[in-house]
Amino acid sequence: MADRPKVLVTRPIKEAPTARLRERCDVTIDENDFGIPREELLRKVAGYDALITMLTEKVDAELLAAAGPQLKIVANHAVGFDNVNLEDCTAAQVLASNTPDVLTETTADTAFALLMAAARRVGEGERFLRARTPWIWGPLMMLGRDVHHKTIGIVGFGRIGQAVARRAKGFGMDVIYSDAVRLPAEVEAETGAERVELDDLLERADFVSIHTNLTPDTRHLFSAEQFKRMKDTAVLVNTSRGPVVDESALADALESGEIFGAGLDVFEREPEVHQKLLELENVVVIPHLGSATVDTRDAMGHLAVDNVFAALDGKRPPTLLNRDAFRG
Ligand code: DGY
Repeated sequence: MADRPKVLVTRPIKEAPTARLRERCDVTIDENDFGIPREELLRKVAGYDALITMLTEKVDAELLAAAGPQLKIVANHAVGFDNVNLEDCTAAQVLASNTPDVLTETTADTAFALLMAAARRVGEGERFLRARTPWIWGPLMMLGRDVHHKTIGIVGFGRIGQAVARRAKGFGMDVIYSDAVRLPAEVEAETGAERVELDDLLERADFVSIHTNLTPDTRHLFSAEQFKRMKDTAVLVNTSRGPVVDESALADALESGEIFGAGLDVFEREPEVHQKLLELENVVVIPHLGSATVDTRDAMGHLAVDNVFAALDGKRPPTLLNRDAFRG
């Protein structure tokens, strides 16, 4: 049909949202296993009315110009949108959206899984057994760190940080947080969290979990100085964005015993992982799986499709990021 809107999805997403999209649009799904190389993407985007992008694609003036003036929306299939230049989108009068809320609980689960795994040496124990290492139960074998009743410091107390705090409460933990803004009293009461300065948090926390956006201000927020402030028994967890942590400084801190361990879902030069991190026993690494569950990826896909449909209908997308671009 000639007048069906054209939508490009840069990686395959779940079946149900894809089927919805196909009901009213001509959909092209790129099957490139390692993401579309930039030059190819610039060629491919021409003529589409909507793009569903991943965090691996840089959305900027160059890409928007390559797409053409008919482009109405870039619906990012992620809550993080550091890959999307909102000013460029607004200047090109292209709406931009993300997928918040639907992945909050799942990402908090991942943060807690990494926290537990790093504290209790789960990755190390797995590797030990899979290597068929001879062993017998011993009272001093692979001693980890208690999680329950310890102090967790949450850096960036937005939706996901708060969801981690609720989990921590269930473990009887004390929760402290640092954030540019103080959260409303009811949020502090519900999560039992106390706001402190970042340096204070680093000195007091047994576990530090990062939930801040990646911005110029948060790039390398964690570097050698921050690791020095942390307890040598502390565990760092990062499920936000890799460049918030200076990976080389982290590897040094883990190697020298400046901190006890780390659980990482995201990496500074993703998909590359710092060589030393891969060699150290006291770090648990997983390949950016924060929101990777069947239900949550369905929900993210549906939300991205809702955003596309709203834009095609001239309505305000439910999770619009650049309000100035919307002329409703
Ligand atoms: C996001 O949505 O930003 C996550 O990092 C993807 O799982």
